[in-house]
Amino acid sequence: MSTILFATSEALPLIKTGGLGDVSGSLPIALNSSKHNVCLILPAYSPALREAGDLKEIARFEVPSAPAHVRLLEGKLPGSSVTLWLIDCPPLFDRPGGPYADQDGADWYDNALRFGLFCKAVSMIAMDQLGLSWKPDVVHCNDWQCGLIPALLASQENRPATVFTIHNMAYQGLFSQKEFYDLQIPHELWSMDGVEFHGHFSFIKGGLATADMLSTVSPTYAKEIRTPQFGYGLEGLLEYRSDRLVGILNGVDYTLWDPENDPYIVKSYTSKTVRFKSLNKSALQEYMGLPVSEKTPLIGIIGRMVEQKGFDLFLDNIEWLISTEVQIVVLGSGEPHFEEKFKIAATQYPQNISVQIGYHETLAHHIESGSDMFLMPSRFEPSGLNQLYSLRYGTVPIVHHTGGLADSVIDASEENQKAKIATGFVFNEATPESLLATLKRAIALYKQPKLWKQIMKTGMKQDFSWKKSAKQYLALYQRAIEHAKNS
Ligand code: ADP
Ligand code: GLC
Repeated sequence: MSTILFATSEALPLIKTGGLGDVSGSLPIALNSSKHNVCLILPAYSPALREAGDLKEIARFEVPSAPAHVRLLEGKLPGSSVTLWLIDCPPLFDRPGGPYADQDGADWYDNALRFGLFCKAVSMIAMDQLGLSWKPDVVHCNDWQCGLIPALLASQENRPATVFTIHNMAYQGLFSQKEFYDLQIPHELWSMDGVEFHGHFSFIKGGLATADMLSTVSPTYAKEIRTPQFGYGLEGLLEYRSDRLVGILNGVDYTLWDPENDPYIVKSYTSKTVRFKSLNKSALQEYMGLPVSEKTPLIGIIGRMVEQKGFDLFLDNIEWLISTEVQIVVLGSGEPHFEEKFKIAATQYPQNISVQIGYHETLAHHIESGSDMFLMPSRFEPSGLNQLYSLRYGTVPIVHHTGGLADSVIDASEENQKAKIATGFVFNEATPESLLATLKRAIALYKQPKLWKQIMKTGMKQDFSWKKSAKQYLALYQRAIEHAKNS
C-alpha cells in the first residue's frame, strides 16, 4: 500500500489549458486502487471551485509571504473516488482569467508568488505540518509550477520521496532573484545545485536538481532533453541525472476519447463499423461550412498555436494542398500571428479551409471523429495526446518524428504496410519540404481505399490506455522511495 500526493497546476474536469490537464485528470484515477491511495492537489482557481462540487474545509493555516490565510478544501475529483485537495488563497487564485495568464493572455504578474505559495503549502502537507495526521510515501510533482516542492522537501528529515515529471522543457518558470527572496524560502536554495539558473530563479531547475526521480512523458523525449536542441540550457543537468530519468508515454482516457462511446459525436463507430465514420465527416463539413463531399480528404488540426506545434510548416504548404483538392479544419488559439495566418488562409480558400479560433472541447471531438487525417507537425512534442486520440478514431495521424509522436505512430512505409503494422505517416525533418513529401504520400494512399482502411484499422486497435503507463509510474515511485531512504 502506498500513498501518493499528486501535485499539479491543472486537471480535468476542473481546469485545463492543454495535455497536462488531461493527464492529471486521468492518471490519478488509473493509479488509485485498493493498493494505492492517491490525493490530487491543485490551486483553488475560480473554475476549479465551481466544478469541484461539494468541498469542506479541513485545515486553515498561515504560509509565510501569503497575502491571506490559506485553507485546505477537500472533495472528490468529479466522477471518481480520488480525493481532491484544493489550496485556497482567494487573492492569488480566485480571479477571472486562466491559471497562468490573464484574460489578455499575459502571464500573471505574481506567478512566482502564486505557485511559490502552492509549493510551500504542498510541502507543508507532505510533512504533516497541518495536523492532518497524514503523510504520503511519494509526492508526484508536475511541471515548473510544482518545481519547488522537491527542493523544499530535499533537506527535511523523515520526508516523503519525490518524483518530478517534465511535461514540457520549454516552460521553465523563470523569475528574478528579488522574487526568490520575496518568497521567504530557505536562502540555501539560491545555489547552482538549487534554483539558481544564470542569475535567474528557476522553478523547473528546483525539481530537476533535487527530486529523487525524474520522468518525462515519452522515452524519446527523455533522450532529446539531454541535448542542447531540446534541453534549453538544462541538458547538462539532465545528462548528469540521467540515471534518475525515465520516459513514460502518456495514456488515453478511453471513457472520454473513444468513438464507440463518445457522447459528443454524431454517430458512434468501432473498427468493425468504421463505415459510420463518414456520417461524422459530413456533419463536420457542414458545421464548418465546407462542401459536403465523401471523397475529398479532410485533414484535422487542433492545438495551441505556438512555435512548438510547427503550424508554419503546414502554412507554407497551403497552396499545394489547395491545388490537390483537400479540405482542412483547424481549431486552436495562441500567438496572434499564427491565428491571423490561419484566418487569412480560410478567407482566401473558403471551399477548402475552415478555421475556428478558440477553445472548444466538443468541436475537438467532432474533428477527431470527422477527419480522415490528423496533422501534428510539431517541432518537438514531449508526448502529445491528439495523435493517440486520432489512432483510436481511425483518423490517420501525420506526424513529425519527435518525442511521443515518434513513440506512438508507425510510418506507412511499404515494408510496414506489408507487415500490417503501419498506423500513420511520419516525416523526419521539421521542414516544409519534408512535410510536403509526406502529405503527398498520405493523399496518394488515401486514394487506395483498401490500403487506407488497413492503416485506419491497425491504428484503431492500438491500446494506449493508462494501464501500462500507470504500472510504470508505480515502479518509478518505488525507485524514488528507495532513493529517499538512502538520501
Ligand atoms: P499540449 O499539452 O502541448 O497542448 P497535447 O497534445 O498533450 O498538447 O494536449 C492538448 C490537449 O488540449 C488535447 O486534449 C487537445 O484536444 C486539447 N486542445 C488543444 N487546443 C484545443 C482547443 N482549441 N480546443 C479544444 N481542445 C484543445
Ligand atoms: C505538454 C506537452 C505535450 C504533452 C502534455 C501532457 O504540454 O507539450 O506533448 O502531451 O504536456 O504530458
